Amino acid sequence: MAGLRGAGDVSMSDVTSLTAPEEAKKVEERARNTTAHVIIVGNEKGGAGKSTVAIHLAVALTRMGKKVGMVDLDLRQGTLSKYLNNRKKWCEKFNVTLPNPLVHKIEPSVARHLDEIEADESARWAHAVDTLTEAGCDFIIADSPGSDNYLARTAHGYADTIITPVNDSFVDFALLGEVDPDTFEVSRPSQYSEMVWECRKRKAIFQKKTLDWVVMRNRVAMLDSRNKRRVGDGLKKLSERVGFRLAPGFAERVIYRELFPLGLTLLDLTEHGSTVQFTMSHVAARQELRDLIMLLKFPSLAGQKIQF
Ligand SMILES: Nc1ncnc2c1ncn2[C@@H]1O[C@H](COP(=O)(O)OP(=O)(O)OP(=O)(O)O)[C@@H](O)[C@H]1O
Ligand SMILES: [Mg+2]
Repeated sequence: MAGLRGAGDVSMSDVTSLTAPEEAKKVEERARNTTAHVIIVGNEKGGAGKSTVAIHLAVALTRMGKKVGMVDLDLRQGTLSKYLNNRKKWCEKFNVTLPNPLVHKIEPSVARHLDEIEADESARWAHAVDTLTEAGCDFIIADSPGSDNYLARTAHGYADTIITPVNDSFVDFALLGEVDPDTFEVSRPSQYSEMVWECRKRKAIFQKKTLDWVVMRNRVAMLDSRNKRRVGDGLKKLSERVGFRLAPGFAERVIYRELFPLGLTLLDLTEHGSTVQFTMSHVAARQELRDLIMLLKFPSLAGQKIQF
């Protein structure tokens, strides 16, 4: 199947041009009505933990027996693609088979004019969703870049769930809305919040479906502090005003940085070949991931025990 491969085979390039308007329209219509649950991990701020969350969620769902497709929307930085490439190399080195999501690679458009580039990118994204759905994926998880761009915005329009990791700091509040630092009254939603609202409205009108927006705290300090509590209180207020659900999220743990070069997730540490010592901190981190999946309430997991 064009553009579809196992994790790590991301250097191959066989993306055909999809700019023929009629073909692109048909693919887009099919993709919009996809049966796969589309999850976009996004915010417009760099380094909040999007790629980390995306890969962990993908591996967890795969380990739970779901078929998961992944799309890297960060064409410039390509962290997710690099992560999956590292995973492939690790598997080859230790002759191990790990549960892997499918990957659909989107190549940057080579068109010269902005409107052509945008049409091309829309078509390529729709093609990715269409192809992964045809391959039988229950979930499609897309990892967004840390800045606003056309491809990521288009992908948000297909989302059933948007997960927005935010660092545990007031600096990240601006991503969600302009707030009074003392009262947390929202004077204005951010551009990102408005974009999510727009997606939600369109989804309700054109697809008669709901869009769930979940903001999760990331890199939460282990120790209780006044700042930690204030950030928590502020996010709670913001969630009511801006319209997202709040997830407790992930604590700050060094392990996440160690995992990237290996291409592993917290769920792979007990596999043959892993030299990372499995500790209580990792057990707690896995529980945080389970809690996140529980909170996300994916319809296809209803009644299923969150186990990996
Ligand atoms: N909970 C955490 N504790 C410690 N380090 C973390 C945590 N989550 C992510 N990191 C680390 O923070 C860095 C940025 O994470 P990541 O690449 O997932 O962010 P991102 O939002 O995808 O960034 P970008 O916007 O650049 O794509 C990485 O080195 C990652 O290992
Ligand atoms: Mg990233």
